[in-house]
Amino acid sequence: MRVKRIDHLGVAVADLAAAKRLYEDLLGLKLTHEEVVQDQGVRTLFYPLAGVKLELLESITPDGPIAKHLASRGPGIQHLAVEVEDIDAAIAELKAKGVRMIDQEPRRGVENSRIAFVHPKDTHGVLLELVELPPKV
Ligand code: CO
Repeated sequence: MRVKRIDHLGVAVADLAAAKRLYEDLLGLKLTHEEVVQDQGVRTLFYPLAGVKLELLESITPDGPIAKHLASRGPGIQHLAVEVEDIDAAIAELKAKGVRMIDQEPRRGVENSRIAFVHPKDTHGVLLELVELPPKV
């Protein structure tokens, strides 16, 4: 497997209105996509920046992964997402080489991408998200 590029950086935010003021009003980024991902209990906002996106993550449930991150570590960079060509093959290869996955199967990410998280115990503390983007039409 070879990762293609950084797709996005996930940032956990506790105060979405204040974070929007920072990224939009002060830093001048343009919001291009907003989506609630129910099974993760998050609202996500995307800001493209030089070919990489910033993904702001606000928790909409008290017990989802972002709520847990905020409780244990506070706001900040939560995950690094890299694009792969074939996520099924990538997961199979990592597992075969003894790397633990949080997601054993790909699940649906934003904009019909397919995603899977690798366990941070096997990635030197970085929560790594694999992303397979949908085919361009
Ligand atoms: Co992400």
